[in-house]
Amino acid sequence: MDRIVVKRSGPLSGQIPIAGAKNTCLKLMCASLLSDEPLTLTNVPRLSDVATLSELLESLGVQIGRLDEGRTLALSATDLTSHLAHYDIVRKLRASFNVLGPLIGRTGEAIVSLPGGCAIGARAVDFHLEGLKAMGAKVDLKDGYVYASGDLKGAEVEFPFPSVGATENVMCAAVRARGTTVIKNAAREPDTKALADCLIAMGADIEGAGTEQIVVRGVDRLHGATHRVITDRIELGTYMVAPGIAGGEVECLGGTRDLLAAFCDKMEAAGLEITQTDAGLKVRHPGGRLKAVDVTTAPFPGFPTDLQAQFMAMMCFAEGTSTLEETIFENRFMHAPELIRMGANIDVQGNTARVTGVDHLRAAPVMATDLRASVSLILAGMAAEGETIVNRVYHLDRGYEHLVRKLRGVGANVERLSE
Ligand code: EPZ
Repeated sequence: MDRIVVKRSGPLSGQIPIAGAKNTCLKLMCASLLSDEPLTLTNVPRLSDVATLSELLESLGVQIGRLDEGRTLALSATDLTSHLAHYDIVRKLRASFNVLGPLIGRTGEAIVSLPGGCAIGARAVDFHLEGLKAMGAKVDLKDGYVYASGDLKGAEVEFPFPSVGATENVMCAAVRARGTTVIKNAAREPDTKALADCLIAMGADIEGAGTEQIVVRGVDRLHGATHRVITDRIELGTYMVAPGIAGGEVECLGGTRDLLAAFCDKMEAAGLEITQTDAGLKVRHPGGRLKAVDVTTAPFPGFPTDLQAQFMAMMCFAEGTSTLEETIFENRFMHAPELIRMGANIDVQGNTARVTGVDHLRAAPVMATDLRASVSLILAGMAAEGETIVNRVYHLDRGYEHLVRKLRGVGANVERLSE
């Protein structure tokens, strides 16, 4: 199994190109099921999650053409051959549960494996299912699968919490339903807005995406379209943290502040200088130690849960004590024990971590059980004495394209070892 070896690095200098957004791309791929005409996606990130979802869509009858070394995908769902999303694939990738809305919206029938829990929390799907039921779907759970069927009609769906996945599933189910669906307390994440933009380009009638209320008026059919995947704001934020830990100045190409305003505010409060350039977002470490800053994760436009681990890694070196509160997932501090093994001073109580900055960390072999936790350990390793070895690299391949190449490009001392 591959490993990544990180040594003390910095000051960093240079540019990092930011790829298309994983979590947007996966949902756009699912949306291709809604039309019998091809959906062409550009700026596709080359990630194992994209490959896994492609496998699932192909098992449903979607034909996928790959151009430009996989940066462009042409997804053609002209003849669907199945409406069964098998456990073997859904268990690997939670986003694959998002074939449910498009499948039932297009064919009136879907059988989709329950995704199950995962390392960061229970991750229920009750909001997805309640939303579909409100629209008239018959939903049964049997042998670990969701059986959903029915001719959907518009309804009012109010979520108890602005779930990203549930908003997207219900929105996709509603675009071809009879009548108008009003989604209240909808997720406002840029990924959800980007999905609505793509559906609109395919002929859907959607208003209010990116706000708390989305109105979807059903149309008879969707047509093909070509759509560009937006910049990955979590990849962007991850690389913005790199100079925060290793020092120096990095320009993240394609980055815009509006994707990450709350995160940028906290980075600046810690002492980093952020400038919007024509090409992207530039982050400069002014030298000396950063200041400890408190963070509470929240749905967009709040501080993203997907950047909490990386920010924690940076706070391990800051002056003072910061309190990081995780409000989205119940078990998202798995990086903390690993950082502690490297000498960090972190006290976790329930959903709150208190991090008191130390002068330096010491390298150690570490491993993490999810994508963002893994990358936070690589970032921390850039300011640790010795050789940090990060195991279970497959987590990183799910969400970071050319991670090692990109970090080396700005001078980081990072290497991938194959075995
Ligand atoms: C999406 O997950 C992202 N994944 C996650 O990205 C991200 O962390 C999360 O949104 C929050 O921004 C994809 O888009 C593929 P939710 P999702 O539904 O849709 C609870 C990454 O690292 N909930 O907004 O699963 C749930 O348990 C990741 O790229 C219910 O209770 O997130 C959680 O506590 C990981 N019932 C909270 O809501 C439901 O039916 C937010 O979940 C649905 C959700």
